[in-house]
Amino acid sequence: MNVIDRHIKKTSTSAHITQRAEALSARLRAVGERAFPPTAQKTLRSFSSGEVAEIVGVSDGYLRQLSIDGLGPMPDLGNGGRRSYSLEQINELRQYLASVRPKEATRFFPRRRNDEKLQVITVANFKGGSAKTTTSLYLAQGLALQGYRVLAIDLDPQASLSAMFGYQPEFDVAENATLYGAIRYDDQRVTMKDVIRPTYFTGISIVPGNLELMEFEHQTPRFMLQKRGRPEDLFFRRVAGAIAQVEDDFDVVVVDCPPQLGFLTMGALNAATGMIVTVHPQMVDVASMSQFLLMTSDLVSIIEEAGGRLDYDFLRFLVTRHDPRDVPEQEIVGLMRDVFGSDVMAATAWKSTAIANAGLTKQSLYELTRGAVGRSTYDRAMESINAVNQEVVELLNEVWQR
Ligand SMILES: Nc1ncnc2c1ncn2[C@@H]1O[C@H](COP(=O)(O)OP(=O)(O)OP(=O)(O)O)[C@@H](O)[C@H]1O
Ligand SMILES: [Mg+2]
Repeated sequence: MNVIDRHIKKTSTSAHITQRAEALSARLRAVGERAFPPTAQKTLRSFSSGEVAEIVGVSDGYLRQLSIDGLGPMPDLGNGGRRSYSLEQINELRQYLASVRPKEATRFFPRRRNDEKLQVITVANFKGGSAKTTTSLYLAQGLALQGYRVLAIDLDPQASLSAMFGYQPEFDVAENATLYGAIRYDDQRVTMKDVIRPTYFTGISIVPGNLELMEFEHQTPRFMLQKRGRPEDLFFRRVAGAIAQVEDDFDVVVVDCPPQLGFLTMGALNAATGMIVTVHPQMVDVASMSQFLLMTSDLVSIIEEAGGRLDYDFLRFLVTRHDPRDVPEQEIVGLMRDVFGSDVMAATAWKSTAIANAGLTKQSLYELTRGAVGRSTYDRAMESINAVNQEVVELLNEVWQR
């Protein structure tokens, strides 16, 4: 009998569970700390000139000429004269290119203009593990690399998205530091600016999550019973209201939803201008998605009856963790395309051990180099991620009528 088992004999069920939880948490922390010590500040790597050429959409030769001519940002020179750029420099380069090629300004520097509205993309599905967080992460990072100003909102009390950005929900996120702080009902409410933090990934700010978010699920029924407050204070308008406070600072907001259809998710559905439903192509997942859609449509009608309006610019299904060689998966994707037509994104997120492994050490493939992963594995995963992100960019452009 080990120490824990012996101790449990004497305690109640709740103490038993608490103890198991603490033991597991301690062990996981130890594993995590070996991979990524909490004192380590996350920093973003630099990008080779070849990568930059690809990201920005010019030739490597042209970039070399710019640096020889002393135009635009000056890259770091490494071994053998290899040029590399930080993401800040990539953004400077974008601005430079937009200024010397004004006809292509939007392509190089795609930030929204004043007459273009902020887009809020909500990534949802109540099926756990359908890759909501992974999709949100790669989308936020992909958009930031393209030069957009991105706000990532972690609405999941489990806070996996925050952890990917180096904020550990138990240690780094204090009270009133999640979105709950900005949408709570009592006088402890803070502003949205108070809960937004910078990240190591230039161009991305985050509202981190932790268990405190659950408070919103508990407090909302109480608030509704009291039936007080103005219509704009209604529970489902609060997320949108908080986002509106910082509207001018961002181009795109990406909201990672928890795997439940609670009040937080309803708030996100109401705040959204576009929605992505992530689906792992397995029969059980597709069956549960039909439940999800029925429940969502019920929720949407509740919101609409209460005077809310949901008018999405787009709603898309994204096939995730997809193995295109797997025949049953092919059939399910076929079924989805049959039923939902062009609502299913053409690009699918392929299953990749590189993505899964990077996730284990709280990293994304954008943070790793080809060399660290293996060229063909990296390229294959990136091809699929870039295709998904590119399709979302096209949706944004359509909304902005570019
Ligand atoms: N394309 C992919 N290839 C391989 N593994 C993936 C891929 N996308 C996601 N995963 C892995 O699948 C698991 C679930 O993904 P993720 O956490 O993004 O799902 P989720 O929908 O956010 O889950 P939850 O409902 O718990 O919030 C993670 O371990 C992640 O690393
Ligand atoms: Mg998640």
